[in-house]
Amino acid sequence: MSACGRHLPLQAGCRLSQRARGTMESIPSGLGHLEGVVAEAVKVAIDFGYRHFDCAYFYHNETVVYLPREVFGENSMPQYPEGLNLDYLDLYLIHWPMGFKPREKDIPLDCNGMVIPSNTSFLDTWEAMEDLVIEGLVRKVGVSNFNHEQLETLLNKPGLRFKPVTNQIECHPYLAQKNLIDFCHKRNVSVTAYCPLAKMGVDLLDDDVVQKIAKKHAKSPAQILIRFQIQRNVIVIPKSATPSRIRENIQVFDFELTEKDMEELLSLDKNLRLTTFAPTKNHKDYPFHIEY
Ligand SMILES: NC(=O)c1ccc[n+]([C@@H]2O[C@H](COP(=O)([O-])OP(=O)(O)OC[C@H]3O[C@@H](n4cnc5c(N)ncnc54)[C@H](OP(=O)(O)O)[C@@H]3O)[C@@H](O)[C@H]2O)c1
Repeated sequence: MSACGRHLPLQAGCRLSQRARGTMESIPSGLGHLEGVVAEAVKVAIDFGYRHFDCAYFYHNETVVYLPREVFGENSMPQYPEGLNLDYLDLYLIHWPMGFKPREKDIPLDCNGMVIPSNTSFLDTWEAMEDLVIEGLVRKVGVSNFNHEQLETLLNKPGLRFKPVTNQIECHPYLAQKNLIDFCHKRNVSVTAYCPLAKMGVDLLDDDVVQKIAKKHAKSPAQILIRFQIQRNVIVIPKSATPSRIRENIQVFDFELTEKDMEELLSLDKNLRLTTFAPTKNHKDYPFHIEY
């Protein structure tokens, strides 16, 4: 794919649109959890040209969003895709490499506030995912939040029937993920960047370097951060419930960052992870104990 293209090739002739949008908590501040807001934001995004929507059982909004979606542990699988009134899913991800004890709650916690694990492994979950492909319910399967050792374990699984097409990971200039991206790309696994704007209590959009590059290209800081990922051949899923921003976030195919811009953005890396999922730190498969 060229740096200005709009699709990334996946294995077996399939392509994944870079015109992508996340949907986690897609509610503008002050409006509360209104499903209509999410549905409206998705409609607006389709009108602006988005074709790749990321949602999850965990976000409790998947019935008003479309594809792909992620499986959270092994609990949610039987509900899909029938629960979505769809014949099949384009892409189905294991949301985290950790299985939790099935319970009424999405994240079962013990009295210390730590997650209660199941004794499954992500390799068991993967076999169930592969069955869905064979049954025609899912076209492609992938993973999220896998570190390089977990991905290697999966790729080396004896009898692997389908390779993961993508690893969806937190990625922005403060957590550039160079090693993990190189590792994935060398193995023909695409990378999808979540939290690309790093808005959770961090001021990446106000960073002097980002602001300077944005001014130079007459683009917004968010557009610079989205374009940064596209030029690394990384799929990027910014989330917005604001129509003007939904539009702004897809207007990133009419300019190019220079090599120096890219280097400057990469130099901001400080290994700052925003999504640590702290209650799962004791889990045997917690992915962030190793460097990448
Ligand atoms: N696999 C995983 O474990 C995982 C974890 C986290 C996220 N995700 C996925 O990744 C998606 C994106 O991540 P995220 O929502 O955490 O972070 P994000 O996309 O980096 O940031 C979202 C925030 O940025 C604001 N925003 C959007 N466009 C903007 C713009 N042009 N200028 C200024 N602010 C802008 C949004 O506000 P408004 O909505 O008010 O516009 C929202 O507050 C999620 O929706 C979800 O689908 C996956």
